[in-house]
Amino acid sequence: MRQMLNIALPKGRLGERAYGLLKTSGYGCPALEDPGRRLIFEDLQAMVRYFWVKPSDVAIYVERGAADLGIVGKDILLEYEPEVYELLDLGMGKCRMAVAGKKDFRDPVGKTLKVATKFPNITRSFYAGKCRDIDIIQLNGSIELAPILGLSHVIVDIVETGATLRENDLQVFEEVVPISARLIANVASFQFKDDAINDLCAKLRAQTEGML
Ligand code: PRP
Repeated sequence: MRQMLNIALPKGRLGERAYGLLKTSGYGCPALEDPGRRLIFEDLQAMVRYFWVKPSDVAIYVERGAADLGIVGKDILLEYEPEVYELLDLGMGKCRMAVAGKKDFRDPVGKTLKVATKFPNITRSFYAGKCRDIDIIQLNGSIELAPILGLSHVIVDIVETGATLRENDLQVFEEVVPISARLIANVASFQFKDDAINDLCAKLRAQTEGML
């Protein structure tokens, strides 16, 4: 008997695109296309159960087994290092993590560099690799404000189109790491639902091959 797969989707544009990919791979769920205020959607033909969660929470659901599979940005995997299997690069949600600041920024050599970010672990290991002494200022959003208001020298943040930086007279100085969406699996589910997971993974891989 085929096993039901529980899949955590990140709320928002990336999750909608990822669902589009799952649908064309044979994992459509009509109930999800007319959601109302419901949170869980099931399709007994495709044997999938989807739920929308906050993008930064997807890895928690998967790590703890509330979901067998999830779609998550590589930024979240690098920042939180959850114990999950990373199965596939979906080739969507592409952006980069970068160091950015005011155009006239000059590194205050010999002084501690103040860095504002939502990603303290990624930032810490990036600057540790350069042996640069930093002071991390952890914010939860609108990171670009920090160098403008003198709260930090630079930021480490996601740059997608570059519009937020451009419109605020900021620029990228260095790339930290390229980011894209990944399919992840719970460790135990990967063992006990291996047929269903491998099947889904192969179908998604066939769809995404041209996107990487
Ligand atoms: C992200 C990121 C940048 C912006 C980059 O913010 O933190 O602010 O998107 O996109 P762009 O290069 O296309 O302009 P998000 O929209 O997640 O909001 P936030 O300010 O709450 O972090």
